[in-house]
Formats: sequence, C-alpha cells, structure tokens
Amino acid sequence: MSRGVVLSTRELPEPFDSLREDFEVRVLGGPAGDLELAAQIPGVDALICLVDDAVTGMVIQAADRLKIIASYAVGVDQIDRAAAAARGIVVTNTPNVLTDATADLTMALMLSLSRRIVEGDRMVRTGGFAGWAPGLLLGRDLKGKVFGVVGPGRIGKAVARRAKAFGMTVIAFGRSPRHEGDADDPPRVSFDELLRRSDVVSIHLPLTEDTRRLFDAATFAKMKPGSFLINTARGPIVDETALALALESGSLGGAGLDVYENEPRISLGLLTDDRVVLMPHAGSATVETRREMARMVVEDVRRVLSGEKPLRLVPPEGGRR
Ligand code: DGY
Repeated sequence: MSRGVVLSTRELPEPFDSLREDFEVRVLGGPAGDLELAAQIPGVDALICLVDDAVTGMVIQAADRLKIIASYAVGVDQIDRAAAAARGIVVTNTPNVLTDATADLTMALMLSLSRRIVEGDRMVRTGGFAGWAPGLLLGRDLKGKVFGVVGPGRIGKAVARRAKAFGMTVIAFGRSPRHEGDADDPPRVSFDELLRRSDVVSIHLPLTEDTRRLFDAATFAKMKPGSFLINTARGPIVDETALALALESGSLGGAGLDVYENEPRISLGLLTDDRVVLMPHAGSATVETRREMARMVVEDVRRVLSGEKPLRLVPPEGGRR
C-alpha cells in the first residue's frame, strides 16, 4: 500500500519529524505562492501551511488527493476555505495554545511604548546615557488609563485580563455580546466610543473582508489624541500609510506592531518613526507554544489520513478567534 504524502511548506518543531515514520513528507523550505503550491499539490494527501503561504482556489483546484489543509496558526485567512469546503477538504488550525503567548506580546508592545523601552535601549547602546536626569525619557503611566480591546475573543480576553492587572479600565468592541459572569470579558461599547475613550487600542480580530483596513484615516481621526495602537492580529486590518500619517501629524502617540499590511515589507514611514515598536510577526513565538502548535497539526493530519474527524475543524466561514 502506498504511503500517504504530506506536504509542508516548512520544517516544524517536534513532533513534526515523527510524520516521516508513517508518511512521505515533502518540505518546500520557504513561503509558497499559489503557483508553486498548485504545481506541488497533485499527489499530496495533507498540506501543512503557514500564515504566509497562499492556499488559493487555484491550489485547491489542482489538488487530486488532498484531504486536509492544516494551518500551523490559529489564523486561516491564507486559505480559501470556501473552495476547500466545496471539494470536501477539511481545514484545521491551532487555537487556544497561542492565546497567552500572543497576549503577553501585546502587553510587551504596550509596555515598550508607554515606557519607551526600545528608545532607551538604543540610547544606552549608542552612548547617549549621560546620567540620571529629571526629564530623561519620560513615559506614561498605565494605571487609571483606558484599554480598548477590538475583538474580545480568546486572545482579546486574555489581553483584557492582563490590562486589568495593570490597573487599567478595559472596554471592548466586538460582535459577540458580553458573557455575563465571565469577569475577564470586558463591557461592550460602540466602535466610535472605544476609539474616543481609549488610551491604548489593541486589535484582536481575524482578517476578513469586513475587517480589512478597518483602521484607516477616518478611524485614526476618531482616536483619542496621543493614544497608542497595538496590532498583533493581522496587518491588512490597518492601512499602514494612514497610520504613518496619523503618527507624523501627532494625532497618535505611538504604535506597537507585530503584523504588517504587506509582510514582510514594512512602510518606510513606520520604520523611521521612533514612536513605533516593531516585531517580526512573533505573537506565538515561544518554544512551548510552537511545539504545542506542531503537536496539534501532526495530530489532526494523522487523524484525517486515517479516516477520523480532526479535533480542530475550522468551519468554511465565520470567526476564528
Ligand atoms: C496565528 O496563529 O495566526 C499567528 O499569526 C501565527 O502564529
């Protein structure tokens, strides 16, 4: 009997290697566009993809044996889920396990902005620290400030819990009503009220046609003057040019970004602005989290290829966080 074929666009942490005992494993070794994937997909039973691969309708049409597309991420916006559903191909992801790591990074970005950590590090390394001074590198207190969560799903709620521990008042805007009895679930307000009141606005939405460029020039104009924007969700939710202009005009006080509109390219206006803290899409990047994500992907690939249902099935449409 021929062994099933697993195609992964990258090597992953353990237990990924264990798949080689039972399947033929092919690894592409870098982000894959749809032309490359469409050429590689015939004969493949399981595809493991990352956030920067393009699993479009073209790839799915070219598949002849594909049973599962496993996203090594909670996000699945890189996959044409409707096309997969139409061909009976299941899509899975890695929810929950990266919630705390992503929430921690969100707080790290907020603290970097409010206490100017990156600026301070640069100053010290380049010999700019000449001794204690009353006005040196003044930041902002967090206690008593308002933290606005846009998208109070799993990650948004984990962030809300952390912001509360810093003495902040947390409010949220999202589709789902507040879960009465869940102390971590922040009270809901309208989008405009959140923008007007929040000292820190943090995005925790999936990328969909509704959320694409939700943060544009009109949105920035409604934000509290001097406030911070944090994005650890998906880059295209923010219009980067409009963000650079809002920072340049002084209407926003800073931005902490882990994701970008055209990854891995980043607008020059953001790269050259000291009030912007940049991370390389590393929300889930801890040893423990990435290992657990690999375990989930391997588990679901094994299940589907042996005829069982996956444990983390993503519906063809709908929210993911
Ligand atoms: C995700 O899981 O969607 C992150 O962006 C990558 O880990």
